Amino acid sequence: MSSQHAPREQWASKLGFMLAALGSAVGLGNIWRFSYVAGESGGGAFLLVYLLCIVAIGIPIVLAEFAIGRRSQSDVVGSFQSLAPGKPWVLAGYLGVASAFIILSFYGVVAGWSLHYFIQYFAGGPSLEGGMSYGDYFGAFTSNMVQPLFWQFAFMALTVGIVFVGVKKGIELSNKILMPLLAILVIVLAGYSLTLGGASEAISFLFSPDWSALGEPAVWFSALSQAFFSLSLGMGALITYGSYLNQKEKLPGAAVGVSIMDSGFAIIAGLMIFPAVFAFGIAPDSGPGLVFITLPEIFNNLSLGTLFGLLFFFLLTAAAISSGVSLLEVAVAFFMRQMNWTRQKAALIIGTIIFLIGLPSSFSFGAWSDVTVLGDRSIFDSMDFLASYIFLPVGGFIIALFVGWGWKKADALAAGDLQGSAIGIVWIWILRIAAPIAILLVFLYSTGLLNL
Ligand code: PHE
Ligand code: NA
Repeated sequence: MSSQHAPREQWASKLGFMLAALGSAVGLGNIWRFSYVAGESGGGAFLLVYLLCIVAIGIPIVLAEFAIGRRSQSDVVGSFQSLAPGKPWVLAGYLGVASAFIILSFYGVVAGWSLHYFIQYFAGGPSLEGGMSYGDYFGAFTSNMVQPLFWQFAFMALTVGIVFVGVKKGIELSNKILMPLLAILVIVLAGYSLTLGGASEAISFLFSPDWSALGEPAVWFSALSQAFFSLSLGMGALITYGSYLNQKEKLPGAAVGVSIMDSGFAIIAGLMIFPAVFAFGIAPDSGPGLVFITLPEIFNNLSLGTLFGLLFFFLLTAAAISSGVSLLEVAVAFFMRQMNWTRQKAALIIGTIIFLIGLPSSFSFGAWSDVTVLGDRSIFDSMDFLASYIFLPVGGFIIALFVGWGWKKADALAAGDLQGSAIGIVWIWILRIAAPIAILLVFLYSTGLLNL
């Protein structure tokens, strides 16, 4: 019963909480997922809708998650159970725990690739034999049955290790030092990438939208899901982190700050990747391998490129770990309370299960590449689709309605630190009406039920 009596962790300061939320948000989503999805979705129109989703839907729901967590002081399921006992809102909590399992399972595969590239740069970078391209190298590595599993396992072990000792202690170094370093490095690399000759093409690709693409449902669907994925939104990661917050903080500033920095990271990552994509003649819609093919080209061209490669993949892996920690923590916090497990037991058991669930996603880049699950999507793409396109937006939909309609208005405003302000009224109505309807419309539009 000891876990019941152990006091809940608390962030040491407002900055500690901000940095933890930012550590969750900033990760592979900003660099790996953002660039390949933007590349597949045509660039500018996608970026525009993505930013619209961040501002109109993302930021208000980030604040809603923070408010729920701080008020309930509980995990994602416990939050709904204690704030609205016996009500169906708790469905969002169970969806959140399921999302944590699914997302971390494939996130671990990609983070494992990043870890592998990091280690490769100790020996000068990915070794290209017999006229291989970096694309060939990526294909050969990820289609290997065994090798990627080792790195996926190593990533999961690091993530479990940090959750094992406690999130607060575990991610402080990463959030205070490594994340700012990654930001600086991405800016420096973007500056260099823009000199490679693909700059004007990249800038028009990213910033002059092909307006006709706005008529494509897929662009809206992928922008909405990228916004949720990147903000760590809709699955209770931010509820769980908010629950380690004491009552004194001011939440709106934190919600806006985290969202702006997360989006800034993604845009600068785009400025790092796309000029090189065009300069080296790589297809923008190369898919999940895009950054792993493009960046080695940059490092190969750069004097001290090996050092840059080493540093970059180290910092990217660190960012992936702090995001992975927040995913694992959602499930760990739930099982600790539900099953009365210790933190250590929960981290080990859940981490092992998630690693195993991730194996088919890894195989889907090799031996199982022909296996399709949802539509014509591979196993990996199906896991991503289920979590990012369905569970996160549905979770966010329920969370918005819960704070908007399930709470008394005055309670919600107080919980969000917005009492007596005009912005508070806007926030409430976004949660009540605008955000749920926007999510619903994107769903109907992309399933073809709504023929515009
Ligand atoms: N936001 C993280 C990223 O961009 C991924 C993530 C999603 C983390 C959902 C937690 C919850 O990499
Ligand atoms: Na992100």
